[in-house]
Amino acid sequence: MATDLRVSLTDRCNLRCSYCMPPEGLPWLPNSDVLTDDEVIRLVRVAVERLGVREVRFTGGEPLIRPGLTKIVAASAELAPRPQLSLTTNGIGLERLARPLRDAGLDRVNISLDTLDADRFERLTHRRRHHDVLAGLTAAVAAGLTPVKINAVLLRGINDDEAPALLRFALAHGYELRFIEQMPLDAQHAWDRGTMITAAEILAALQAEFTLLPDPAERGGAPAETWLIDGSTGLDGRPAKVGVIGSVTRPFCGDCDRTRLTADGQVRNCLFATEESDLRSALRDGADDDEIARRWRAAMWGKRAGHGIDDAKFLQPARPMSAIGG
Ligand code: 5AD
Ligand code: SF4
Repeated sequence: MATDLRVSLTDRCNLRCSYCMPPEGLPWLPNSDVLTDDEVIRLVRVAVERLGVREVRFTGGEPLIRPGLTKIVAASAELAPRPQLSLTTNGIGLERLARPLRDAGLDRVNISLDTLDADRFERLTHRRRHHDVLAGLTAAVAAGLTPVKINAVLLRGINDDEAPALLRFALAHGYELRFIEQMPLDAQHAWDRGTMITAAEILAALQAEFTLLPDPAERGGAPAETWLIDGSTGLDGRPAKVGVIGSVTRPFCGDCDRTRLTADGQVRNCLFATEESDLRSALRDGADDDEIARRWRAAMWGKRAGHGIDDAKFLQPARPMSAIGG
């Protein structure tokens, strides 16, 4: 069954990454459709107690802009068995929130950073917030939200020359860097298979400067393929790693153990699913925990064997990434 739950806490964001949403933003979910803190906490509890979920990752949009985040993390940390708790964030606001989140029980963070250059950051995200992200990274390490992972997406002609520099930066600060192939999840439907930067290109760029050794560790259901970097050690004294998530050219669907909950209470069994199961209505119609667990399991049985991005019949999901959660 799915042991890894991703919970989107809002579809809103304070950035406008071009691979995710248009500069003007999107028609956000109406507040009344968004699960309340108590509804989120209840669904996380059902997932942990009845579906075998062992790891909960909070995402968005940008989860740090959800007022109830700390409360939701604290309630999740009290569940038995206590799940691993992590957050995928753009880092803005983490300077202030890293410590309270750590105190609430958050274990780790993944922070998105695609470039080391403040002007490029602004071109990519339409906001002048590069400095805030760097401050968030520093605060995450100081608060012990480690290992701090960085997610980077490379875009041709914008930041595709930065793979080695991003890795040097990550190694110098003890962050674990993972590159993610750009996926067709942008609201504008501008994704193009022909221009995306592939995992093979990323590896070639890294190998020009670093010696990458195969990582002997079990990959399990993890989407990232990882390599050890010859001659570098991480903050924990172990060999430093770099990861590449080849969602498009090296799909890992067969090993995927994720279930996703959108901010408006829909279960998705895949990022690219075209169907969802409505747990919010069940909740608000008074369903008990058994009934919710039953519906959730049924939604997961429909999980397809692969995302089919390369099929001629591939249909991009109606929701963009910001409304699904990373
Ligand atoms: N392709 C690949 N990665 C994406 N992300 C957001 N949209 C896309 C996309 N279209 C990344 C963000 C963040 C994580 C949630 O997913 O950069 O790191
Ligand atoms: Fe916001 Fe993340 Fe989308 Fe960027 S990728 S606009 S940080 S939700």
